[in-house]
Amino acid sequence: MSSDRTLPGPSPAEYALRRQRVLAALKQSVMIVPAGSLTTYANDCDNRYRPDGNFRYLTGFPEPGAILVLRPDAEYPVTMFVPARDAQQEVWTGRRHGPEGATQVHGADAAYPLELIADKLPALIDGCDTLYYSPWRHADLDARLSSILKTLRQKERFGRRAPHTIVEPGELLSEMRLTKTAEEVALLERACAISAEAHRAAMSVARPGVGEWEIQSEIERVFRQQGAAGPGYGTIVGSGANGCILHYVENESVVKDGELVLVDAGAEYGGYNGDITRTFPASGKFTAAQRAFYEIVHDALEQGLAAAKPGATIDGIHALTLKLLSQGLIELGLIKTSLDEALERELYLPYYMHRTSHWLGIDVHDAGRYRQLEASRPLTEGMVFTIEPGLYLQSGDETVPAELRGQAVRLEDNVVITATGARNLTRSVPVAADEVCALVGR
Ligand code: GLY
Ligand code: MN
Ligand code: MN
Repeated sequence: MSSDRTLPGPSPAEYALRRQRVLAALKQSVMIVPAGSLTTYANDCDNRYRPDGNFRYLTGFPEPGAILVLRPDAEYPVTMFVPARDAQQEVWTGRRHGPEGATQVHGADAAYPLELIADKLPALIDGCDTLYYSPWRHADLDARLSSILKTLRQKERFGRRAPHTIVEPGELLSEMRLTKTAEEVALLERACAISAEAHRAAMSVARPGVGEWEIQSEIERVFRQQGAAGPGYGTIVGSGANGCILHYVENESVVKDGELVLVDAGAEYGGYNGDITRTFPASGKFTAAQRAFYEIVHDALEQGLAAAKPGATIDGIHALTLKLLSQGLIELGLIKTSLDEALERELYLPYYMHRTSHWLGIDVHDAGRYRQLEASRPLTEGMVFTIEPGLYLQSGDETVPAELRGQAVRLEDNVVITATGARNLTRSVPVAADEVCALVGR
């Protein structure tokens, strides 16, 4: 398979190292990770293909339907089943690597066409006590494995041995994925830099009268032009009350003078994602009430960023954010109790209903536990996550001052924990009110 463009992504050596680490942890077990298949957009047209996050973590093999099998004590510890070369099919759906490409380009020790799975897979499972596999997500493979396990069990008296334990692969992989390597941080930095450039472009094309869809198209133009695969999630451009809808992706309203515009957009580059939100006035000028409202969220973002360091926790940053936003809501007159009572009774919930952070990486909401048993998990070097405080004042809420009704502010940066603190990967798009205003419409 040839192509004129080298796709960005982790190096072959990095992939090999990840697989080695998994193989070392598996001991007498086997892990099966399917890439997943195409999902349908309409009738017989498909969505853009995106491999399962665990598969993508372990191999750069780019075609749907492939299956990775890791078994440390096998003759070939890294085995792949991939779509066979097929000149006719390739005319319709694109070039294929075939088993040869899986071994020569993507580091498998052995590779077979998918048709050989019934022949080859049982021996890779036979003799293991534990099977790492995530059931109920790939019906065909579930059925295949169920049949293989049944046969192995029936043949135990002839010396076969079926696994008696099935373990979610995330048990191992999510922990590995949570701490990013230097290569991963570099890819995330690029994803974030492209995302930041797109946000600056979005601000520059914004003005009253522009369509939300036009701002979206400018963002996604920059993504592709800069070498990103595209948006890592549905781009959100919400003007006015649309900003109060957390997953607003229709982007179908015309931006009006006096409105705030909330843009949440991130590029996928080399398999890794940026996830940035900025909010700005359509006209380039905040009203006094909007500026005060904006500053509450901006202050929460800055203090959250300042709190991010080794030993701090995601829960701690969320608690700090709740405190700052609740204090702001008291100042706006929306909460009429003491701060302690507001926090105790969660009176902020109508205005701030989501969490402040999530892990960021191959998946926008990336793998990794947030708590260890009951305790908040201390942040350590290489963890990458978002900080995204927001306030949403619904248009139907008559307790909100009229000049702020139907307005929303969310601000979202992406940080990596370093040995001594944290590095903000998304600061190249301004967030200070005056700097934002200076960019809007320019
Ligand atoms: N854009 C998805 C999120 O902020 O979590
Ligand atoms: Mn986010
Ligand atoms: Mn976001």
